[in-house]
Amino acid sequence: MLESYVKKILNAKVYEAAIETPLDEATSLSRRLNNRILIKREDLQPVFSFKLRGAYNMIANLSEAQRQAGVICASAGNHAQGVAQAAKLLGIKAVIVMPVTTPEIKVSSVRARGGKVVLHGDSFDEAYAHASKLQEDKGYTFVHPYDAPDVIAGQGTIAREILHQYGPGEIDAIFMPVGGGGLAAGVAAYIKYLRPEIKVIAVEYEESACLAAARAAGKRTTLKEVGLFADGIAVAQIGKETFKVLKEHVDECITVSADEICAAIKDVFDDTRSVAEPAGATSIAGMKKWVEQNSAEGKTLVTICSGANMNFDRLRYVAERADVGEHQEAIFAVTIPEKPGSFKRFISHIGKRAVTEFNYRYNDSQQAQIFVGLKISADSERADLLQRLTDDGYDVLDLTFNEVAKGHVRHMVGGHAPQAQDERLFRFEFPERPGALMKFLSALGGHWNISLFHYRNHGAAYGRVLCGIQVPDKDLKAFYAKLKDLGYRYWDESDNPVYDAFLS
Ligand SMILES: Cc1ncc(COP(=O)(O)O)c(C=O)c1O
Repeated sequence: MLESYVKKILNAKVYEAAIETPLDEATSLSRRLNNRILIKREDLQPVFSFKLRGAYNMIANLSEAQRQAGVICASAGNHAQGVAQAAKLLGIKAVIVMPVTTPEIKVSSVRARGGKVVLHGDSFDEAYAHASKLQEDKGYTFVHPYDAPDVIAGQGTIAREILHQYGPGEIDAIFMPVGGGGLAAGVAAYIKYLRPEIKVIAVEYEESACLAAARAAGKRTTLKEVGLFADGIAVAQIGKETFKVLKEHVDECITVSADEICAAIKDVFDDTRSVAEPAGATSIAGMKKWVEQNSAEGKTLVTICSGANMNFDRLRYVAERADVGEHQEAIFAVTIPEKPGSFKRFISHIGKRAVTEFNYRYNDSQQAQIFVGLKISADSERADLLQRLTDDGYDVLDLTFNEVAKGHVRHMVGGHAPQAQDERLFRFEFPERPGALMKFLSALGGHWNISLFHYRNHGAAYGRVLCGIQVPDKDLKAFYAKLKDLGYRYWDESDNPVYDAFLS
């Protein structure tokens, strides 16, 4: 079977549509991981993903009669663009069935490539069923996203390129993302036939790990639920044809979390300045996990950055989660005494470490519960920090891996605090530099009680802080004098109606 795939891959027609993408060395990631990391840049394809390879190869191999009849596919993602582009180049009619819920940006991108879009059903399955019906009624050829030999062979051309691009030394392992398995089957078939000593490692998102499930069961199984975070690889069942290759010719399967994928998107960005989509960065996340699990050093590891079709509005979430996925942020709930100076004392206990977030609202007159994010450089540092704070007498809850805390509670800390007497609300602009918070607390925190604090680092030039301070009328003059000395820009928000509605 491998031999017939290798022949198909060697014969595959892809370069009338796709480009031979570079295999770039990721210099800073290589340095950090002590291995030579290469990234196959499929994000640079004309449709920003490798999908054009398989779609073009299949359509280009159709008979004249099939070409006349046209092609059809069901997809809300990269395959749709690949088929539309391939058909356009070959002058063939393409019908793309997409769920009605498909974002407009993807619909218009398919239309811009000349594809005829049919919007049908609320889910991919409904769109797929409709496409199958249209195919029978109209005699189109169905271009499967992964489960057709010519599609698999087109994706396999990635492996052919890798084997003549990797430079000095030998490749130790290739990491591949897996959705329905087309890319992985093509790459595994080529590599295992020609260079069986190179490890091929499949990487899946933990909420759509259909290959791992099938390999564990010894047969294709359907996942009950599929997480959509890495939408390009959100597939419930591994392909039939692809599993024939993948059940035997993959050395390992690794699964990664959404946070680990977000961290990998950041790694790709740091080395290439390209923003990979979640599925696109999945193999990089898997490679990092494998390096850690195997304490690997000095190896040459190839990863495939398979696509970059990401909506801009998802970036905020990705950036927010990247630090946790990289084990560079620890999130704690800490109990501190509710009195002037205790906030400052807490900050002095965490040393010079950068504070990524600080949320706090007056609750009772004895104790305050603060929600704090701290920059760390490795996961082991989190345990040390936790120990240190506990030894210093703080009651600490580690929320670093708590979904409710990260997704919701961090935005909701607060509430009305009728007992917080003489409270005034201020908005400040803090310079984003180490020591800015300490300077603020030294100026004010020891004199007056801070009853509310909200700060989250957004990577801007100025940190935006909302702060409630209990200042009796008789102290106002002294208070404003301190603010003047401090020199940070501020606005009195005590009359802001939102303060009245939610906080005061
Ligand atoms: C960016 C990206 N990566 C990986 C995959 C997975 O490919 P396959 O279904 O061949 O496993 C896809 C599939 O659409 C994709 O769009």
